[in-house]
This record gives sequence, structure tokens and C-alpha cells, in this order.
Amino acid sequence: MSTVMNDIACEIKDVALAPQGYKQIEWANRDMPVLEQIRARFAKEKPLKGIRLVACCHVTKETANLARTLKEGGADAILIASNPLSTQDDVAASLVKDYGISVYAWKGEDIPTYTKHVNIALDHKPQIIIDDGSDVVATLVKERPDQIKDMIGSTEETTTGIVRLNAMVKDGKLPWPAIAVNDSQTKHFFDNRYGTGQSTIDGIIRATNILLAGRTVVVVGYGWCGRGVAMRAKGQGAHVIVTEVNPVRAIEASLDGFQVMPLNDAAPLGDLFVTVTGNRHVIDKHHFERMKDGAMVSNSGHFDLELNLESLAQMATEREFIRPFMEQFTIGNGNRILVLGEGRLINLAAAEGHPASVMDMSFANQALAVEHLIKYQGKLENTVHVLPGQVDQEIAAMKLKAMGIAIDQLTPAMTEYMNSWTVGT
Ligand code: ADE
Repeated sequence: MSTVMNDIACEIKDVALAPQGYKQIEWANRDMPVLEQIRARFAKEKPLKGIRLVACCHVTKETANLARTLKEGGADAILIASNPLSTQDDVAASLVKDYGISVYAWKGEDIPTYTKHVNIALDHKPQIIIDDGSDVVATLVKERPDQIKDMIGSTEETTTGIVRLNAMVKDGKLPWPAIAVNDSQTKHFFDNRYGTGQSTIDGIIRATNILLAGRTVVVVGYGWCGRGVAMRAKGQGAHVIVTEVNPVRAIEASLDGFQVMPLNDAAPLGDLFVTVTGNRHVIDKHHFERMKDGAMVSNSGHFDLELNLESLAQMATEREFIRPFMEQFTIGNGNRILVLGEGRLINLAAAEGHPASVMDMSFANQALAVEHLIKYQGKLENTVHVLPGQVDQEIAAMKLKAMGIAIDQLTPAMTEYMNSWTVGT
């Protein structure tokens, strides 16, 4: 574990991994043309000049390209991990060695270390926080109220974090403007649906090497992530059951061609379970008791609490690792339940997270959200904001151009029609 490398303070696994990480960052960058354009503009305009910034994200090759962008924009940025299992150690090493960015993260760090890194990040006295899950924001507000005055605002990457921010607003506890990056269309339509859809299946396959065709996959939750996971599992030939608490989403899942039923009924049918709800203990003791021998359970929601693993541990008469990212719990009735990736987001624990081409749009939103906070400093209400639709459209237009796709434009007559109420039948 290094602490200072070429004058850059850090705690990473091994700086000798940097050459491999450098190649990975460059590989991801090839699929991140929108972020690259923003980085080029930031390098010229320096819109983040001198801003102390903390980014709490999954430390991946895609995040590395965001960190480079923030640095080119002039920010004094440090990076910590938003999850103990998602760090790519070679990438962390390259960020420190090749890009001079402070990183505090390694794959497999324990919870006390994670908490220590959050505190090191707060010692940086951030003016802007990029959060993924709202742990840094919540810690600052709860434990360091004297630092609130330094803050310009924060951005939030994930649905789970936005739920927490909205709860803070309800309690009158959000002391600065926060931008819900997840709520941009160019974020959740692509990252949550196609990113989570593909990378979750990728993580499950890397952890298990099972054939999905013919198996029954139970997708718990039909938000944007659940829609993506169900769609991709179906594409692999699985028989997909969706469980929901929201009646509208349940109708949508049914009309999308999935079987919909309560989780209690699905428990004995599933070969593989994937939670994507953002809620706690959605798979609980009574579900584990009803599962068949050999059932596999995994989570692709932000926190590891979607599966009640404490209960499962208490039910277990025996526990054994079968292979990396697969732990077998033998429970009282003799059945074996296989937990993948310790219940942490399987796409980042056992695979590499969302592919770069979707993170390109997510992180373009992040970079522009930080710029927006600085540009409108003192003018935004202390609540949760969405980036203006025009920014979303600009990101989409840049992405389309990079994809080599041209689209039509409204003619003047069409525009006139869209703006009028007088023309009818
Ligand atoms: N969240 C999901 N996938 C990710 C990735 N590749 N990088 C950063 N955050 C992510």
C-alpha cells in the first residue's frame, strides 16, 4: 500500500500495476468521444480552476477518464472508491503515476478502510463532491457540519443516492444544490438499462460460467436497471420472471412479455435471482427457505443490503467458497444457496462495470454538472436539480455525431405547427 508516489498522496494496491492500467484507460477512452471533447474544451477554458473536488466513484478505467477531465478543467481532485469491491487496481495505479491524481482505493478494502478513505476525502475540504450512493455527502452533513460553508454543491450518479438526497430535502437537511445526474435522459436510458443489462449478465457469467438458456431468472425490480437485466437475460434464452411492488411497472413487465408474480411465489421457481431495487432485504429469510437446492442469488443494486445475508449466515450450517465470487451457504433443510460477489453489485465485483460507451454519456453529464454548479454558484436553490434538458440534448447530439448517425430536422412549417393551437381537423 503506497502512501506517497511522486509527491501524490495515495493509498493504492501496487503502483507497479500502472503500465497495465494506462493501457486500460486508453482503451476505454477510445469509446468515450463525448467526454474527450469536453476534456479538450476544459483544457482550454479551465472552468474548474482551483476547485477542491472529491469524487467518490467506482474506480474503473471509465472513471479514470472522468478524473482526467476534471483535472484538465483545473480541479484539485481526489478520488475514492464508492464500493469496496469495484476498484480496478491497475487503473488506480496509473491515475497516480501517469496522471498525478490522488487515489485512495483498492479492490477488497474493508469497511473501516472505506470509512477512513471517506474521511481522508473530507480532509481535502471539498467544494464540490461527485458522489455515487451519497455516503460522502451524508458523512459531511452528519459529522462535519463546519465544512458545509465550503461547499458549492454536489452531483449524484445513482438512483440509490438520489433517494437519499430526496430524503435529506424532506428533512430540511440538504445544505447545498445537488444535481441528480442519474435523472438526465442520456444517463438512465443508456447506463442503467443497457449498461446494467449487459454488465450484470457479464458479471454473473464470469462468476459462474453457467448457461443462461433454459434457466429461470428472477429479476427483482423493474426500474431502468431491472428492465435492462430482464431484456438481456431473455436475449440469452432464459425464462424470466419479474417481481415488482409498483403496479405500473408490473403491467409494463407483463406487456414486455415477462411473467410477473410475488417474490414469494417466484422463490421456489428461480435458478438465479438478481436484485435491482435499491431497497433493503428484498430477498429475505423466508425467500431463502423456499428456494431450491443450488439456487444462485446476486445483486446489481448499489448497496449490498438487498439480500439479507445476515439471515442467510444464521441459517447456514456450512459455508464454503466454490470459486472466486461464489460462496455456498448450506442451510438447515440441506439446500445449497450460492451467493455471487458477496451480494455486492455483481457487474463491478465480478466483471468490469458498464462498458465505456455508456459511461461516456454518464460522465459527460457528471463533468457538465460540475461546470453547471460552478457557473451558477449562489444562484441554485438547496434542493435536488436535474441538468437542463438542453445539456442532455447537447450530449445526445455529440454522441450521435460520434456514432456517425445523422437525423432529420424539423422544417419551419413543422416547427410552426408544433407551436400552434389553431390548426385542428
Ligand atoms: N458504474 C457502473 N459501471 C461503471 C463503470 N464502468 N465505471 C464507473 N462507474 C460505473
